Parts: sequence; structure tokens; C-alpha cells
Amino acid sequence: MKIGRITISDRASAGIYEDRSGPEIENVLCEFFTDAKFVVAVIPDEQKLISSKLCEFADSEKCDLIVTTGGTGISVRDVTPEATKTILEKELPGFGETMRMESLKKIKTAILSRATAGTRGKSLIVNLPGKPTAVRECLEILAPAIREGVAHLRGEDPHEKKK
Ligand code: MTE
Repeated sequence: MKIGRITISDRASAGIYEDRSGPEIENVLCEFFTDAKFVVAVIPDEQKLISSKLCEFADSEKCDLIVTTGGTGISVRDVTPEATKTILEKELPGFGETMRMESLKKIKTAILSRATAGTRGKSLIVNLPGKPTAVRECLEILAPAIREGVAHLRGEDPHEKKK
């Protein structure tokens, strides 16, 4: 399972503060996918740069899964969902809807995230909010659908019993 993780933050990419959300993606996904191998990027909130990094991780790196963290809110510089939507082939609105609905039970600001998800080629792409706690909360909600989605894109039957 090859996973691309992209931290999208002006300040983390400039070294103004430590990126704790990207490593948290790895921590959580390693709990769900024991064979996970990661490629990593930390980039500023620039729409074209985000789109091109997503394309690189999908088309050249052939990641099964690409997870972004940050830039999903409503601040002037938040453009992750726009950058993602322009390069998706199939959008999966249920990921964002479920993240917001389930997160709202814990945190009333969850609806400020515009995170989305979808596919490009055989890659599943998922946006997450920027906080490390949000990364864990959302990935724990989405993990079963991520597992099933990746299997579908690989052409596997996730329900088939291994011999
Ligand atoms: N979702 C979860 N599960 N936990 C959180 O702490 N924070 C919210 C929201 N979604 C949060 C969350 C807040 S405060 C914001 S502003 C938005 O995500 C957008 O965050 P981002 O711009 O860092 O992506």
C-alpha cells in the first residue's frame, strides 16, 4: 500500500512551525494498514502547486491513497478543496459529508471544513482538516471506506477470503 501524504500549510512549509499533522497521518494509517509505505510533501497553500503535487503522487508515484491535511477552511489562503476538485476524475462527496457529520458530534466547528475526496486513475484522494487531532478523528471515521475504496481501485474483491 503506497500512501502519499501532503501537508498544506504556508507556515509549516516555511519552517515557522513544526508539521505535526503530516506525521499524524502516518501514525493513524500505520494502525490500519500494516503494509503502508509513505511518500511525503509539505507545501504552501498555492492552488496550482497543490494540484500538481496531487497529480505527481497519483500519476508518477502511483500512490494507492493520497491524504492531504490543511487548507480546507474558509480563510483567504485555504484552497485545498478547489485544487483537489480540478484534478479529480470522480468526486466522492460522501467522505466530506461523513467527516463533517461525525466530527460535529464532538466539535461544533467541524462544518467549517470543506474537505472533499475522489479518485484519479487508481488513486484515492482524501482531504483532511489541518489540526493533528482532526487528522486522527477523521481518519478513524473514514478508514473502513478508505480500505474498501482502495481495494475497488486495485480491482480486488475486498470480501473475497484469502486462501
Ligand atoms: N474536524 C475535526 N474532526 N476536528 C477538528 O478539530 N476543526 C475544524 C474543521 N474540522 C476540526 C474539524 C476547524 S476549526 C476548521 S477551521 C476546519 O476544520 C478547517 O480546517 P483547515 O483549514 O485546517 O483544513
